Amino acid sequence: MSQSSGYMTGFGNEFATEAVAGTLPVGRNSPQRVAHGLYAEQLSGTAFTAPRAQNRRSWLYRIRPAAMHGPFAPFAQPHLHSDFGSHAVTPDQLRWDPLPMPAGGADFVEGLYTMGGNGSPAAGSGVGVHLYAADRSMQGRYFYDADGELLIVPQLGRLRIATELGVLEVEPQQVAVIPRGIRFRVDLPDGPSRGYVGENFGAFLRLPDLGPIGSNGLANPRDFETPVAAYEDVEGDFELVAKFQGHLWRADIGHSPLDVVGWHGNHVPYRYDLRRFNTIGSISYDHPDPSIFLVLTSPSDTSGVGNLDFAIFPPRWLVAQDTFRPPWFHRNIASEFMGLIHGAYDAKAEGFVPGGCSIHNCMTGHGPDAATFDKASNADLSKPDVIADTMAFMFETRAVIRPAAQALEATHRQRDYQQCWAGLRRHFRAP
Ligand SMILES: [Fe+2]
Repeated sequence: MSQSSGYMTGFGNEFATEAVAGTLPVGRNSPQRVAHGLYAEQLSGTAFTAPRAQNRRSWLYRIRPAAMHGPFAPFAQPHLHSDFGSHAVTPDQLRWDPLPMPAGGADFVEGLYTMGGNGSPAAGSGVGVHLYAADRSMQGRYFYDADGELLIVPQLGRLRIATELGVLEVEPQQVAVIPRGIRFRVDLPDGPSRGYVGENFGAFLRLPDLGPIGSNGLANPRDFETPVAAYEDVEGDFELVAKFQGHLWRADIGHSPLDVVGWHGNHVPYRYDLRRFNTIGSISYDHPDPSIFLVLTSPSDTSGVGNLDFAIFPPRWLVAQDTFRPPWFHRNIASEFMGLIHGAYDAKAEGFVPGGCSIHNCMTGHGPDAATFDKASNADLSKPDVIADTMAFMFETRAVIRPAAQALEATHRQRDYQQCWAGLRRHFRAP
């Protein structure tokens, strides 16, 4: 086993790291013989000819090539899929309590649960929206997702994600991104763990442009952390699980696929601490649109329109004058999946709890509940509101999020969610 641990900082950088000195070739990627008897292997995350600024690939120097495993056969995990169907989709506002822990126990792969999504892995656009609830580490099992990049948002319990390129440790209020194809194992040091997963079938997530904000702000590149090389040199009766075209497959593998001793490149896993986000808002009146809270964006083929936007609602001060300070009532062309990682969300007095989630699809009206509206409409604006104890997030997509049947039928769906607006009273009086 490698003893390496640690991180390299930056976003989209060309990194180079080796767990054993002298592993990385100098001046070429694939020498006739790699040092220490390793194999060289390229992993490309974008088309070979993608423009340089959007080109992602890494070179891996490993004990055995990724090709070495048995044949794949279907792996039964009915709760995870990419079949978003063509059935009628309700325009209702939808909200859920936290996903219950699986009765029989589950590891991370077994505990994934599809809430909905749009597009498809075959089309190379859209997003799968999933939750996970798991209580045990992956034992002798490794996983990769050929369909999409995974944005993992823990809400309960830490994750130790051992990947081919190194080890990511994340806790609630941190996120991890695992690029398409990279093999990994998830250990649960805290036991029962829960969170959210955005599976991005489209272009890889990147930092948004800042425009008039300038050269600093929002998520700063230096706060993204990619692990240094760390490898496992173990043999045994292991299992490789793949998500491929919407379905899970398994193959026998006689060794740990996390056997990369050194690597260089920019197709890499990373973590980011949401508490480092530089939150920007109005210091006069009104709010900026929530795009001001954008952490990462997967662009679509339409300029300015995200395939997947990842935004957060972190601690902040609200100082705007003559302004309704919580999020306003709204209807958007984009569709929104929201989750709450920590604390309370300032647009809802109750019902939206950590681990819970909601879907507000295209043009479906939503916003603060009656209690929040009454409180904010009568608040003393001479003082700032300090929203200190909170961390909510949103997966926003250009296409409607088609809820999975299991999510609509779940006993933990709040079938009375619309009642949170029922108490909004009529105030209009014609002069
Ligand atoms: Fe919204």
